[in-house]
Amino acid sequence: MDKELMKKVAGQEAVKYIEDGMTVGLGTGSTVKYLLDALGKRVAKEGLRIIGVPTSNRSAKRARDLGIDVKSIDDVDHIDLTIDGADQIDENFQGIKGGGVAHLREKIVAINSKKNIWVVDETKMAKNLGSFPLPLEVTPYGSTHLFKRLDKMGYHPQFRKNAKGGHVLTHADNYIIDLKMHYIEHPHELEQILNNLTGIVEHGLFLDMVNMVIVGDENGSKTYHAR
Ligand code: A5P
Repeated sequence: MDKELMKKVAGQEAVKYIEDGMTVGLGTGSTVKYLLDALGKRVAKEGLRIIGVPTSNRSAKRARDLGIDVKSIDDVDHIDLTIDGADQIDENFQGIKGGGVAHLREKIVAINSKKNIWVVDETKMAKNLGSFPLPLEVTPYGSTHLFKRLDKMGYHPQFRKNAKGGHVLTHADNYIIDLKMHYIEHPHELEQILNNLTGIVEHGLFLDMVNMVIVGDENGSKTYHAR
């Protein structure tokens, strides 16, 4: 089964958890794209009334194009459910996000949601985190010094660059540093260390955050209740 099909299956399964009247956090990425397509169809066919809270300009545009009402997080008083993708999920349902540069908004939306669902294809599931590089959103100011500090700490940092060799910029015009650690033995300890480093706006470790994971595989989809 090809990866696109696995993403599609997961996205389409997740749309079943959206109910009339909900305020729904809309994640970012190629798997969420399938969720948005399926949600757009439900809005059109069933007259589902939902408010979407997008985590990126890309998702906001796509949702609007599909006829889904969207609001900024600061214009809603709560979020019932957020459905988002992930870059890697370990056996304890801890995650890495930010491969698509959106993890700051994604984390803000996630922590303000009553429930979080992640949709992934089966290649994202791993025993441990770390083979996917861990993204950090960092302030441009002082970033070369932060980079050197991270290097000395043995975290194998790399600035994310675009095709022209310039820095990839986030929604807030910050830079991304990816940590090519290969293996993260103690995610909670690393989280504390990164939380305490000045200049990191937000890191891509999403720990103890997801309630349900929907994995698309060659047999359809599997749903795991994480917590
Ligand atoms: C965006 O920054 C990421 O956190 C995405 O949610 C993640 O990269 C998943 O994207 P795909 O579904 O495209 O793999």
